Amino acid sequence: MQASQKIQSVLFVCLGNICRSPLAEGFAQAAMNALPSGSNCRFDSAALGDWHIGKAPDKRARIAAAHHRVDLSSQRARQIQQGDFSRFDLILGMDAVTTQDLEHMAPTGGGAQVALYLDFAGKGRCDVPDPYYGDQSDFDAVAIMLHAATASIMDVLAD
Ligand code: 4NP
Repeated sequence: MQASQKIQSVLFVCLGNICRSPLAEGFAQAAMNALPSGSNCRFDSAALGDWHIGKAPDKRARIAAAHHRVDLSSQRARQIQQGDFSRFDLILGMDAVTTQDLEHMAPTGGGAQVALYLDFAGKGRCDVPDPYYGDQSDFDAVAIMLHAATASIMDVLAD
């Protein structure tokens, strides 16, 4: 993708696609839906791993999203495919290790821009912590972080 081209599609990627990236996708979609009609960007999310393919987001992520009036229940986990690098303008990894793996998968010359989610949001080169082995409070904290970052990401996409 050319640096000057407008970003019209974003894929959020984490390890399992049942905690962090579904929240990032749900918040981005909700923010987009709240904009005047005509604003258009396509959002999706995917996993690096194949453990949870076809599953709905973790119940704790759905509860955390509901605190922000966002419904994740229609999402289903899928694994990233090589074709995603040509189907999306931007692929955001939720942590540094995921982003490194995405960079290794990316085809040479062209294709999606790959970046670290919080870095792209202007929040510094930080990971979104993985809440999977935590409890509801960890999911709620991640949801607050992602909800705040979504506003910054929407600003960057609007530029
Ligand atoms: P996510 O969290 O990458 O934010 O969806 C995880 C979900 C599942 C696993 C690890 C992280 N797992 O090991 O199954």
